[in-house]
Amino acid sequence: MKPPLLIDTDPGVDDALAILMAHAHADIVGLSIAAGNVGLAHTVRNACTLADLLNADIPVFAGCPTPLVRMPEEDAGHVHGVDGLGDVGFPAPNAQASDEHAAHALLRLTRERPGELTLVALAPLTNLALALRLDPTLPQRVARLVVMGGAVTGHGNTGKIPAEFNIGFDPEAAHVVFEAFPSFDLVDWEATLRHAFDDNEFDTWLAAGDKRAEFFGKVVATARRYNATHDRRGVIAADALAMAVAIEPSIVTRSEKRVVAVELDGRLTRGATVVDWTNRLGQPAQANIVLEVDHARFSAMVRHALGVSD
Ligand code: BDR
Ligand code: CA
Repeated sequence: MKPPLLIDTDPGVDDALAILMAHAHADIVGLSIAAGNVGLAHTVRNACTLADLLNADIPVFAGCPTPLVRMPEEDAGHVHGVDGLGDVGFPAPNAQASDEHAAHALLRLTRERPGELTLVALAPLTNLALALRLDPTLPQRVARLVVMGGAVTGHGNTGKIPAEFNIGFDPEAAHVVFEAFPSFDLVDWEATLRHAFDDNEFDTWLAAGDKRAEFFGKVVATARRYNATHDRRGVIAADALAMAVAIEPSIVTRSEKRVVAVELDGRLTRGATVVDWTNRLGQPAQANIVLEVDHARFSAMVRHALGVSD
C-alpha cells in the first residue's frame, strides 16, 4: 500500500521535486502551505501549479504568512527565484486553495485517520507549531514525523552561520515542534550536501523524463546557477531527501538518535540546532538524525518521479 502523506511545504524548488516524488510513490492526503522560501501568496500558488501539473485533486491549505514571533531576516528568493519556482512565469493555476487554515487541516485530517498519516515537514515549522498549540495531542495521532531541517554540526546555509533555513526562519516554531514530538526523523542540511546528485547524470534524467522532468528542469535552473557560484556542488535537493526517508524508511543506512534543541537567542547562533551528541543532559533522545541513505535507491525514486523509465 502507498503510504499516506500529509506534507507541510513552502514550494520552493526542492519542495517541488519532493511533491513529484510523493505523487509518484505515495498518497498525498494534503499540502499545508507555509511561508518560507518566498512569501505565502507565492508558495500557495506554487502548490496549486504543482497540482495542475500532476492533474491531481490534491487539497491545498494556506497556513501562516509569518513566523510565530519574529519577522524573518531573510527568505530564499535568491536561490529559488523571486516567485519560488525559478521565475519561469507559469500561468495562474486552475487549482485553488481550500478555505480551511493549514493548522486546522493538520488537526482535522489526523483526527479523521488517527495513527495512519506520515507528516512530512519541508518548511519552517510555523503551521505545525500552531497546530500543536491548538491541540497538543497531535503527536499521538501521526504514524511518523519526518522533518527537513537543521545543521547538526553547525554547517548551516543562512546568515546566522550554524542555522539551516527552515529552522532559522522560525526558531520558536521549531522549538515547539522539537519539544512536543517524542520521536521524529531529522534530515538536515549537511546530509543533503552528502547526497547531492551529479550534474551530468541529473541532466540525463531531465532529458529522458516526461512533462515532470521538463517542468523541473525549468524551475531548478535558477537554483543550479546560484549553487554553481556559491561553492555548492551538484544538484542539491534537501526536501527530496526528506521525502525519500518519509516514503521508504528502509532507505536510511546510518542514523543516530539524539536530543536536539533549537537555539532561540545568540548573536550568531539563533536558529542553530544543538545536538547532545554525548547525552550529557541525560534526557530521552527524540531526534533520529539521518546521516546516510542508500544513494542508488534515492536516485531511482527521483528518476521515477521525473518519469524516467529505467
Ligand atoms: C530547506 O530550506 C529551503 O530553502 C528548502 O526548500 C529546504 O526546505 C533547506 O535548508
Ligand atoms: Ca522547503
